[in-house]
Amino acid sequence: MAKYLAGELLSAAELERRVAELGAQISQDHAGESLLVIGILKGAFVFCADLVRKITVPTEIDFMAVSSYGSGTESSGVVRIVKDLDATVQGRHVLLVEDIVDSGLTLRYLREYLEHQQPASLKICVLLDKPSRRKTEVPVDYRGFTIPDEFIVGYGIDFAENYRHLPYIGIIGETE
Ligand code: IMP
Ligand code: MG
Repeated sequence: MAKYLAGELLSAAELERRVAELGAQISQDHAGESLLVIGILKGAFVFCADLVRKITVPTEIDFMAVSSYGSGTESSGVVRIVKDLDATVQGRHVLLVEDIVDSGLTLRYLREYLEHQQPASLKICVLLDKPSRRKTEVPVDYRGFTIPDEFIVGYGIDFAENYRHLPYIGIIGETE
């Protein structure tokens, strides 16, 4: 069975519009505060870069890289931190920016990891939500799009490290 790019789910224009709305909402909710945005590599790098340019409150940006133990497309919930933060979280207003919430296990782990460092507040922003796949509840404060249970790529998101550079979100299909 070969995988191939089957079509477009979200166009570059749709992504741009929604990211601008999220940035405006985040700026409004954090009026008078300064933010520490934490992007999760690699998948969130494009979303994070576009989002921070729509945020109008003072913002510092840091990244974490994580990898989830487990095979293929299933996340095991055991997360290994490959790159930790440079910034200090304690007392900061933190916005965690992730590409997709699927089972929820990765975000649950990251949320607990950051909560232990006592931020002043912690909000979660995801570009894409696949609610049908959830194994654990995670509070998502800002959500770009709710999508069906399809394997998607593009706008930073990969399949076997490919397709991250696509300016739109595409769906991966499988031949017989
Ligand atoms: P969770 O722990 O199951 O919520 O895993 C979320 C992570 O799985 C995301 O950050 C992605 O790296 C990956 N993921 C989930 N669905 C997809 C998909 O459709 N395409 C590419 N990566 C995905
Ligand atoms: Mg990821």
